[in-house]
Amino acid sequence: MKALVSTEYQPLDRISLADRPKPAAGPGQVLVKVSAAALNPLDLALITGAMKDFYPVDHPHVVGMDVAGTVTEVGPDAAGYAPGDQVLAFVPSGGTVAEYTVATVGPRLARRPAGLDAEHGAAIPESGMTAVCLLRAVGLGADESLLVIGATGGIGLYAVQLATALGARVIATASADDAGYVRGLGAADTVDHRAGDVVEQTLRLVPGGVDVVLDLVNRGEGLAATAQAARPGGRLVSPLFGPAELEREVTPVYIGSFDPAPGDLEDLAHRAADGRLRVELGARYPFDRAVDAVADFAGKHTRGKIVITVDAS
Ligand SMILES: NC(=O)c1ccc[n+]([C@@H]2O[C@H](COP(=O)([O-])OP(=O)(O)OC[C@H]3O[C@@H](n4cnc5c(N)ncnc54)[C@H](OP(=O)(O)O)[C@@H]3O)[C@@H](O)[C@H]2O)c1
Repeated sequence: MKALVSTEYQPLDRISLADRPKPAAGPGQVLVKVSAAALNPLDLALITGAMKDFYPVDHPHVVGMDVAGTVTEVGPDAAGYAPGDQVLAFVPSGGTVAEYTVATVGPRLARRPAGLDAEHGAAIPESGMTAVCLLRAVGLGADESLLVIGATGGIGLYAVQLATALGARVIATASADDAGYVRGLGAADTVDHRAGDVVEQTLRLVPGGVDVVLDLVNRGEGLAATAQAARPGGRLVSPLFGPAELEREVTPVYIGSFDPAPGDLEDLAHRAADGRLRVELGARYPFDRAVDAVADFAGKHTRGKIVITVDAS
């Protein structure tokens, strides 16, 4: 089968479409004929080796972790699935930008409901489940205010919508081009991260500081800086790591890897299918342009997700 492959830790422009053996469904797994795959920042880090000390990969490595497709084989002990099932999944070991991939039965695999096409389905798993886990980890309440930094990216657009649905007042970073779109998803206000300091702009809108800062962009001491947008005694939550202690009794909540609960992915898929959750495809690429998709994801501003259509039939 054809797959998007890195042969060693290498620059993004050295990856290529190559022939790889078709995988087989092992115990607890299903084999998926891929319809569409989506890209995440982690895919880029696994290609270049930027995270090789704590997330090493074997080579040749097949790129991609998000997928939507059709189950074609069911391995032993993979109860609940049958050939022909339409699914979406997150595959932590990679391998989704390919004609076939394997997914493990559990919270990272769900049926794709009618009303959700494969490209939009592929754009949900990693970003959507991370957004759910971040908001759950920080215990966002319905009457709270939330600043989302990185709101126009994969996780951010889901976080804005899920927090709004919860009843929270959301302030989101967005450049002038994206501000209207993000407000349309429910953000009460936007602050332009390209036009000025995000903390200062936020404190002008909420003088005492927001209850919760969700920072999807900064790490390390950068998180200590953005925590200044939270009220004394507030919380900061991030999928990236920062200081163990923050000033003004702001509590940090860092999640190193997301740990979805059973049903989270189904819930996201059903929200998307019935229109309660908008899935923004910033760009779509055919399979034979998968290398360009990776380069553009790394180098260009894209609102929402980049999706690669592997098999449109
Ligand atoms: N720990 C975990 O389990 C976990 C899971 C998933 C993701 N992550 C990490 O979480 C981070 C976000 O992931 P993602 O998928 O949402 O990434 P993404 O799709 O690349 O989105 C990042 C967004 O942040 C925006 N941005 C960049 N600099 C900004 C700034 N200074 N202020 C405000 N917004 C800014 C980007 O806009 P432009 O396009 O204009 O730059 C983009 O819209 C990544 O570092 C990823 O590796 C961690």
